[in-house]
Amino acid sequence: MNSDTFFLELPKVELHAHLNGSLSPATMLELKRFHADSGIEDKTNAFFDEFQIGAGDSRNLAECFQVFNIAHSLTSNPKALALATSLTLQEFQDDGCCYLELRSTPRDTPQMTKLQYIETIIDIIQKSSLHLTMISKLIVSINRKLPISEAEEIVKLAIECYKKYPDVVVGIELSGDPMAGEFKSFVPALLEAKEAGLKITLHCGEICNPEEILEMLKFKPDRLGHGTCIHPKYGGTEETWSTLCKLKIPVEVCLTSNVNTKSTPDYESHHFKLLYDAEVPVIICTDDKGVFSTSLSREYQICVNTFSLTSSQTARLALNACQYVFADNARKPLNDKLLNFIGKHSL
Ligand code: IMP
Ligand code: ZN
Repeated sequence: MNSDTFFLELPKVELHAHLNGSLSPATMLELKRFHADSGIEDKTNAFFDEFQIGAGDSRNLAECFQVFNIAHSLTSNPKALALATSLTLQEFQDDGCCYLELRSTPRDTPQMTKLQYIETIIDIIQKSSLHLTMISKLIVSINRKLPISEAEEIVKLAIECYKKYPDVVVGIELSGDPMAGEFKSFVPALLEAKEAGLKITLHCGEICNPEEILEMLKFKPDRLGHGTCIHPKYGGTEETWSTLCKLKIPVEVCLTSNVNTKSTPDYESHHFKLLYDAEVPVIICTDDKGVFSTSLSREYQICVNTFSLTSSQTARLALNACQYVFADNARKPLNDKLLNFIGKHSL
């Protein structure tokens, strides 16, 4: 098997993918066409260049976050959102993904409410089981720039949908510009979600803020996103690093995203290696495959080439990721699938 085929065929689980950041150029073109056919004014001229962020891009982190407005303008009504979700699920499956936890922030728009937003994605995920082999779930996102009242509203909706669609809704997460808002103000709402049975993942340590990182670690979420500035070498402290090593909270690692947003200077100095060596569970993820022009198989390939992992280590990385999916009943079948791949290729 040549190496591209290996990464494509390796059964992969994707646990950190934001819907509106995952729209590929092909999906965006399809959405533009859909809007044109519906007679909706197009405000996204030259959107490809504006939407994508590559290495060496001069945009700062705050400017990077503005690019999501372009995707949002293309997913502002239920039909367009359904189309975006459906095309994105297909792309993850085509990339050899066998389990996906898609995450998205519900928005009120002139054409839909937050509840309609969530139910539109749920409907497409449910329908996907008829034509895709990939299992898909939904994590409801809270943007940390939102007022607490809105975060509470989102938690209530997420709990309502979790009760109504327990096979689809699995968790809640905190994301958005790390410079905005304060983690501690979201704690009561997150605890309510946790009490209701939702799993929790937090974007943590995208910028150097050891105090907040420690609060997040002590909250003991089920997983962390990024975990960039936790080790003292990357802006964390001895305490943040030793706490993570003790708690062993699984970290969703997004290499290209971190390099392109300059949270990490280059692939070689990415904290993946520190986490891996310290036996903190790591899960390779894409974050925003559309914005950063990547794919899950590409992220595995970059990681393996950068840190010289063997095929056996790579397959075990994918196998290990299955332990940390939020859907408890998906763990065993995913595990079996990976063990089957490992056996078939004598890894
Ligand atoms: P959406 O939730 O489907 O609309 O996906 C886009 C949103 O995900 C953005 O508006 C951000 O709030 C969030 N997001 C995407 N990438 C990142 C990241 O790297 N850090 C923090 N938040 C992110
Ligand atoms: Zn993210």
